[in-house]
Amino acid sequence: MSVQKISYNDRFIRDIVPSGEIEMYNASIADAEKMLMAKNGPGNDFLGWLDLPKTMNKEKIASIQSVADEIRGKADILICVGIGGSYLGARAAIEYMSNSFDDMRKPRVLFAGHSINSDYITDLLELTKDKEVAINVVSKSGTTTEPGVAFRVIRQWMEERYGRKEAAKRIIATTDPHKGALRKLAGEEGYATFEIPADVGGRFSVLTAVGLFPIAVAGIDISSLVKGACEAMDFCSGNSFEKNLAGHYAAVRNILFRRGFTTEVLASFQPQLHFVAEWWKQLSGESEGKSNTGIFPAALDYTTDLHSMGQYMQEGIRNIFETFLVLKKTKHSVAIPKFSDDGDELNYLAGRSFEDINSNAYKGTLLAHLDGGVPAATITLDDRSETTLGQLFYFFEKAIALSGYMLRVNPFDQPGVEAYKKNMFALLGKAGFTDLGAKLSSRMQGMDL
Ligand code: PA5
Repeated sequence: MSVQKISYNDRFIRDIVPSGEIEMYNASIADAEKMLMAKNGPGNDFLGWLDLPKTMNKEKIASIQSVADEIRGKADILICVGIGGSYLGARAAIEYMSNSFDDMRKPRVLFAGHSINSDYITDLLELTKDKEVAINVVSKSGTTTEPGVAFRVIRQWMEERYGRKEAAKRIIATTDPHKGALRKLAGEEGYATFEIPADVGGRFSVLTAVGLFPIAVAGIDISSLVKGACEAMDFCSGNSFEKNLAGHYAAVRNILFRRGFTTEVLASFQPQLHFVAEWWKQLSGESEGKSNTGIFPAALDYTTDLHSMGQYMQEGIRNIFETFLVLKKTKHSVAIPKFSDDGDELNYLAGRSFEDINSNAYKGTLLAHLDGGVPAATITLDDRSETTLGQLFYFFEKAIALSGYMLRVNPFDQPGVEAYKKNMFALLGKAGFTDLGAKLSSRMQGMDL
C-alpha cells in the first residue's frame, strides 16, 4: 500500500484570506485539471511527463540501470554535461539522497556545461586526470551552446586520453530520438544513447533517462524514485483541493499572487534540499514567467540565509509569500554535548539534537515572518528516501502545470529564452544572424559594455 510522504499545510494562509476563498478555487482546480488530463490546453503536445511514472516501466528502468551499472563498474567519475532541465533534476536528486561531501561518493557525479567558464572546466579536467572517467552529455535539442562547447573540450580531452574508440565507449548521449546535432554526432561516433521523449520538455524530464541515468550511476534506487512519483499521481489528481494536493498548492499560489504577493520564496531548512529548490525555481520560473505575468520564484537556504536575507524577509517589500520546505527525519541524529564549565552558555541545549534545534528555528521563523506580513505555508517531507523525492518531483510538476493554467499561460513553452540566445549568436557571428549582429553592433557603438 502506498503511503503519502509529503504534506501541505496552509493553516496560516487561512488566517489572511477570507473564509471560503480557497474552497472557491475548487472550480479553478477542476478546470485546470480537466484541461491537463483531457490534453486540450495550451502546450498539450508536451504532456508526456504526466504519465511518465507509468510509462517508465520495469524494462525501461532495467535498461537504464544496466548501463549505469556498467559505468559504476568502470568509472570513478561521471561528468554530466547539460544545462537547465538537462541538468538540474539529476543534481537535485543526487544532492538530496547522497552523502554531504562529493569526495565520499563513488562514482562521483560531477557537472559541466551549465556555465561558460574556462577556470571551471580546467579545474574539472585537472581533478579527473588520475581517475577513470565517463561522460553523459544531455541535450534535448542537441544544439545548446553551453553544454555544446563544454562537451567539445571534454570530448577532445577524452579522445587524447583514451583514444577515439575507447572514449566513444565511455560517452553516453541523452538526446532527442531523431533530431539535432548531438543525435547525429552520437550516430557517427557510436556513442550509447538514451532517448528523451519528444513530448517531454527539459524541466519536466527528471523521470526520463535525463535524470534517471546519472541518478542511477550515483547509486540511488531509481525504481523507488519512479514508484514514489507513481504514488503521487493518486494524491495529485482530482477536482478539489481536498483530493488534489498539487491543485491545493497551485490554488494557494494563485490566490496570493492575485493579492499582490508576486514573489514566492521556497525556503528549505536542510542543505540537501538546495538543488531541489534550484530545480523547482526553473520549473516554476520557466513555466509561468511569460505574457508579462507569473510568480517570481526565489529560493533561500535556512538557517544560513536567515543571516543574510532574513532581514529582507522580515522587513523588506511586502510582495513575498513563503513556502517552507521542511524535512521531518534526517538520516542521522547528533545531540549537543554537555560541558561542565558551560563557558559558551549552551548547556541549556545539551542532549537536544540538531533536528530539534532546527525544528524550533523553523517554527520561530514561520511565526516571525507571519508577524512581518509574509503569508506562509509549509510542505513537509517525511524523510530522505527515493519514494519521498519521487512524490515531491511529481507533486511540483503537476502543481506548476496546474498553476500555469490558472495563470492562463502555456506552462510548457519558453519563448523568452530565445532572446538572449539570438543576441549571443549574432554577437558571436553565427551564420544566419548577420543582420541582427550589425544592428546590435551599431546599438552598442560607443558603449563600454
Ligand atoms: O526546460 C527546458 O526546456 C530548458 O531548461 C532546457 O532543458 C535547457 O535549455 C537545455 O536544453 P537542451 O536540453 O535542449 O540542451
